[in-house]
Amino acid sequence: MINIAIDGPSGAGKSTLSRKAAIALGYLYIDTGALYRAVGLAAVRAGIAIDETEKIAALADKTTVSLAIESDGQHVFLNGEDVTSLIRTENASRYASAVSAVPEIRALLLQTQRRLAEENNVIMDGRDIGTVVLPNAQVKIFLTASAEARARRRYDEQIARGEPVVFETVLADIIERDHRDSTRAIAPLKQSDDAILVDTTEIDFDQSLELLLNTIRERI
Ligand code: DC
Repeated sequence: MINIAIDGPSGAGKSTLSRKAAIALGYLYIDTGALYRAVGLAAVRAGIAIDETEKIAALADKTTVSLAIESDGQHVFLNGEDVTSLIRTENASRYASAVSAVPEIRALLLQTQRRLAEENNVIMDGRDIGTVVLPNAQVKIFLTASAEARARRRYDEQIARGEPVVFETVLADIIERDHRDSTRAIAPLKQSDDAILVDTTEIDFDQSLELLLNTIRERI
């Protein structure tokens, strides 16, 4: 099977670019952040506070999370319930970041991710795909953009949705999340030595997709 690992910070356009690249190549697109978000939702529902690490760790034994690829894309299931549309809130996102720092949760989700990659040609996006989940992936890409560029894109999306946001707040959020994701003890966000850097700071979406596809096609 051909495995393509795409890692990078939040807001770099990873998921949209990876999804489009997967369609162009005829591969399955796997968004691994959804798995962490589902566990985040489990923690919220259990009434666990965001810093109660031991209680979060204990969730690993009583939680099942799985993915299914349906005609309209990836669905994520928490204990059998389809929670695909419930995991996109700001709160699920904050909890996802917290639960992703807990080793027991990462261990729970590791096998799910590896099995999908063993059975399918995949483009898998996340933070530790090239470093931990799929160290033998044929292509590894680290997709990033400056914090300012990522904040500008997120700000523009929120404004387009009519949400009242302040640019400085969006930027501060991005910087804080980058810091948390890249300094955690386990599987921190970092560029694998053998990953190719794709920086989209100065280019638009279509140019980014072309660059990503060219980078992949040169190697498979
Ligand atoms: O990509 P996302 O925003 O949906 O990810 C949600 C959180 O999960 C984010 O804080 C980072 C974490 N995550 C991770 O630690 N490892 C992954 N492979 C994917 C996501």
